[in-house]
Amino acid sequence: MKTAVDEIAEGLYRICSYLPDASPEEGITFNQFLLDAEDPLLFHCGPRLLFPDIGEAAGRIMDLDRIRWISFGHFESDECGSMNRWLAAAPDATLVIGEVTAQVSVADLANRTPQIWADAEVIDLGGKRVRRIDTPHVLHGWDAGLVFEETTGTLLCGDLFTHTGGGPPVRDDDVIERAFAAEDLFKSTALTPFTAPTIRALAALDPSTLAIMHGSAFAGDCQEALLGLADGYEARLLDAMD
Ligand SMILES: [Fe+2]
Ligand SMILES: [Fe+2]
Repeated sequence: MKTAVDEIAEGLYRICSYLPDASPEEGITFNQFLLDAEDPLLFHCGPRLLFPDIGEAAGRIMDLDRIRWISFGHFESDECGSMNRWLAAAPDATLVIGEVTAQVSVADLANRTPQIWADAEVIDLGGKRVRRIDTPHVLHGWDAGLVFEETTGTLLCGDLFTHTGGGPPVRDDDVIERAFAAEDLFKSTALTPFTAPTIRALAALDPSTLAIMHGSAFAGDCQEALLGLADGYEARLLDAMD
């Protein structure tokens, strides 16, 4: 495995580890995003066992002790398994996470007390501005939330649009088809009456890039992609209730 680094928007880096055996078909990627700013932010820590590779890759972008904020969308090991390794590598960093993530799991597990990142709260990184958006159960996890970086229009969209394969860093095609193929494989979405409306609200942000945690980033028509994803989930929910 080789962990790759690519700048997918200005000063916004995708750190990508491709694990060819980690899904039944063509493998899958685990991506973290490092936002360079006066106060850099890391979104997703990555699994604990991958920290040596991911940390080395992040070190090609900046010295790790420059990182000021560490965050992730929901409590699972690919999101936060290595958080204590990052906290050790970045002694001035604050762990900033959603309230439910903190209260249910992470306040107990983290080696440093987390700061709560409230829904809709903006953090000014100095040159970049990041806004937390609570998305309970979308795609899964009571504590789920995402981050929108306002200056580049990048939606750090976590597990939304998860797809398999080790494709290029950025694509502009077929993102909905790939997402539903992976959904058929993994069944990772908590399909509820709130799934589609939550995703439609994200479409209203009109992002220019989708920073996808598992798969290639997307730089086509992001609003259309989010609306199509919402419609697809709504159709599946109605089918299931028939
Ligand atoms: Fe997840
Ligand atoms: Fe994930």
